Amino acid sequence: MQHPKIVNAADPEAIEQAAQIIRRGGLVAFPTETVYGLGGDAENSQAVARIFEVKARPRMDPVIVHVADGESARRYGKFPTFADSLMKRFWPGPLTLVVDRSPSVPDIVTAGLETVAVRVPNHPAALALIRAVGGGIAAPSANPFGYVSPTEAGHVAEQLGDSIDMILDGGPCTVGVESTILSLASPTPCILRAGGTAVEDLKSVLGELHILLEATLRPQAPGQLKRHYATQTRLEIAEESVEKRRPGERVGLLSLMPPINPQMYAAVEVLSPSGNLREAASNLFRALRRLDSLSLNRIIARPVKEEGLGLAIMDRLRRCSSTE
Ligand code: TXA
Ligand code: MG
Repeated sequence: MQHPKIVNAADPEAIEQAAQIIRRGGLVAFPTETVYGLGGDAENSQAVARIFEVKARPRMDPVIVHVADGESARRYGKFPTFADSLMKRFWPGPLTLVVDRSPSVPDIVTAGLETVAVRVPNHPAALALIRAVGGGIAAPSANPFGYVSPTEAGHVAEQLGDSIDMILDGGPCTVGVESTILSLASPTPCILRAGGTAVEDLKSVLGELHILLEATLRPQAPGQLKRHYATQTRLEIAEESVEKRRPGERVGLLSLMPPINPQMYAAVEVLSPSGNLREAASNLFRALRRLDSLSLNRIIARPVKEEGLGLAIMDRLRRCSSTE
């Protein structure tokens, strides 16, 4: 049976109701092209505090402000002039820009940082919701902190359904991995998280840019934490030639394309029959959740090429496999 808090995001009345909940300080999970977000009024500290509670998210982890267009983005941050070309090319879309914050952003949103992360999601329901609210929506991914992000309304209902006010169902997310985070607050633009916008595409607009995906002592983006996006079942990244089997073990396989020996595994998830990395990214989290629900002893993930969306896929798999 469908969870009672799930409503169809294509219904304009549902959007209006959701906007009212957010304006009154409540929390609504909503679809974006990347993953489902857990949204609250970005200018209401108490609403944002509840987001942290519901996710059991550490307060040092800042959240992204979602806006409907580049003009509204300027209400929350100070964008350098060259950001215009990025907004024009990549918004709406899976690119988050980190810039110096404006005074209208509560401290809890930025975790006390002098910068703020802003993006324009490319999903009609998300844009309609933001417009109906009439201001920015602060939203992390709608999952308990550290777990795999949700790409379907049902994923949100299973884990957070009881503690939030409404879940807008806009179908499965088309991109399937979180937005790429690009900081414009440093002298040279710097990628803090690989995601739905390919680094190659950003380079073609920006020329020079740095990539800083490794965990540091105080991560700038806790998506940089070594263990994150993680299944409960232990996951290892291994090519078939180095795969070790232990007797009696039930092993699940996560593979880009169909394996030649599926009978070797208790379960197999194929991310893209034709080997397309975009399609693979869109199926990644759903496949991880499925394998994680089977009480397997282990999940083995085959590495993919780190080009295009392959960079984000490998980043998520590495963090999922980390034991630190
Ligand atoms: O695709 C997405 O970005 C999704 C959808 C819902 O929009 N959101 C998402 O939010 O992935 P979350 O909270 O799970 O990840 C946001 C990341 C965190 O790792 C956070 O540390 C980083 O953005 N972040 C937020 N503000 C930042 C800032 N001022 N400087 C650096 N990193 C920041
Ligand atoms: Mg997240």
